[in-house]
Amino acid sequence: MAIRKIVILCFIICQLPLLLLLPCHRNLAYAAGGKWDLLMSNIGISAMHMQLLNDDRVVMYDRTDFGMSNISLPNGKCRNNNNDLALKVDCTAHSVEYDVSTNSVRPLMIQTNVWCSSGSATSDGSLVQTGGSNDGKFVIRVYKPCITGKRSNCDWQEMGNGLIQSRWYSTNHILPDGRQIIIGGRDAFNYEFHPKTPSTNNVFSLPFLQQTNDPREENNLYPFVFLNVDGNLFIFTNNRAILFDYTTNTIVKTYPQIPDGDPRNYPSTGSAVLLPLKNLEAQTIQAEVLVCGGAPRGSYLKATRGEFVSALNTCGRIVITDPNPQWTMETMPLPRTMGDMVILPNGNILIVNGAAMGTAGWGIARGPVLSPVIYRPDNLHDSRFEVQNPNAISRMYHSTAVLLRDGRVLVGGSNPNELYNFTGVLFPTELSLEAFSPSYLDSESANLRPQIISPVSRHKFKYGQRVNIQFSMSGLLNKNSIKVTMVAPGFNTHSNTMNQRMLVLSNGVVKQVGKSSYQMSCLFPKSGSLAPPGYYLLFVVHQDIPSEGIWVRIF
Ligand SMILES: *[C@@H]1O[C@H](CO)[C@@H](O)[C@H](O)[C@H]1NC(C)=O
Ligand SMILES: *[C@@H]1O[C@H](CO)[C@@H](O)[C@H](O)[C@H]1NC(C)=O
Repeated sequence: MAIRKIVILCFIICQLPLLLLLPCHRNLAYAAGGKWDLLMSNIGISAMHMQLLNDDRVVMYDRTDFGMSNISLPNGKCRNNNNDLALKVDCTAHSVEYDVSTNSVRPLMIQTNVWCSSGSATSDGSLVQTGGSNDGKFVIRVYKPCITGKRSNCDWQEMGNGLIQSRWYSTNHILPDGRQIIIGGRDAFNYEFHPKTPSTNNVFSLPFLQQTNDPREENNLYPFVFLNVDGNLFIFTNNRAILFDYTTNTIVKTYPQIPDGDPRNYPSTGSAVLLPLKNLEAQTIQAEVLVCGGAPRGSYLKATRGEFVSALNTCGRIVITDPNPQWTMETMPLPRTMGDMVILPNGNILIVNGAAMGTAGWGIARGPVLSPVIYRPDNLHDSRFEVQNPNAISRMYHSTAVLLRDGRVLVGGSNPNELYNFTGVLFPTELSLEAFSPSYLDSESANLRPQIISPVSRHKFKYGQRVNIQFSMSGLLNKNSIKVTMVAPGFNTHSNTMNQRMLVLSNGVVKQVGKSSYQMSCLFPKSGSLAPPGYYLLFVVHQDIPSEGIWVRIF
């Protein structure tokens, strides 16, 4: 509370045109708006796709036909590929594994082109990546984290033609039974599964994807897909959505068009999240989706002619489980296309990266939006957004953001150029990695931050299991403002974080069990429709300040 008062006081003083303004403003910025750190200025590639795995490493890749990257393959390895459009022999890596704890990268080897592809973590914690372009468009690749064994032996494995339909700009989602569904893509108005069974060894058509495809603009690639609590898929593309039963190939519900009718998917490229799922023991569980930013219809074609239209500054929010669902529109403090929406451990949403004008595509956006915005879904309508401190690095087309276990958000990528290009362009290829630390990581909050004692990380839990959680905290505990959250780390590319999902677990009374240690029980979600099987990050949150997460596996 004291910090809050100082901040408010400081804010008031800052509003006055006094000499005090500068030093004061700096304090305000630190206390209220998060902080940025440059982690590595050069990871060798441009982080165009990212996935955090349960060994606290983030797998990243760009594309194989970018020419030489800035990191060599290990042990003198080279990629010999006659199909490569840039280099037939390439001794550089186009994928790396970032180690959060040592802040370093290790090069990985990919053989075929993974550009603008999609992926999903599996129930056993591997990353399955699908499609890409050119020689990679039918390929499935698997990366298993090195939990045991020699790290240098852990690398991508490519599975020839694992896809039936070529997939470029498609969206994946893990299903309650652990399979994944792969939906859409350029000229791919259908879906398929991985792995396949005799009855699913096929593609299934989805005309909705064709109906939402704007001539010459598309505006429906990388559809936003969320698993609803009833097991159906919510699929949003362009400016509208359906609830879809993938088991019977039927549309269960058609949602109203988003009120302004403007497009939210690639290349207009807004972003979307399924808001945290709560009251998981209730008879009916509500699910809500938030879609933010994008670009007015026609922006892409205008941008290709050098006219850069202001991006959308609106978010649409809809209760997808409502019998009569309606969109509620909200206004962001800043317009944004190509933003990324990251669910923070306390259930707030970080909107980061992107541009204020133009759209996705080669060199057709302007006005980097350097300030992230936090959205607090539970606040009153007019007090949800808060602008955060800006970074110094433009994160335009092909930039990325994912949550880390310690509560920071890892930010990387940005390459609106056809090759690696560092000179003579408006937005040079970014090889750097930064971290955004939301204000809950400020040292002032240290004594209010819980620390999980048990369970230990990487333990397995069954659906519906009751689990005791012990944590310690040095400061004064407010028992009424404790919650336990569980978040599925997503596969992020092109402003779309596939599988990102938070559940707020039902918890019992908090009991003191030691000098500054506490215990409570909580209930794990009861089904795979609520939480598909796999690894999640679990946090204890006190007064909106999260503990460091632990990995839990639910099955
Ligand atoms: C990476 O860039 C640096 C600086 O430009 C250069 O010296 C180095 O040789 C490059 N490494 C690779 C593998 O391209
Ligand atoms: C970088 O882009 C500029 C401007 O389009 C172009 O002239 C130059 O050839 C590009 N460099 C590389 C290495 O592609």
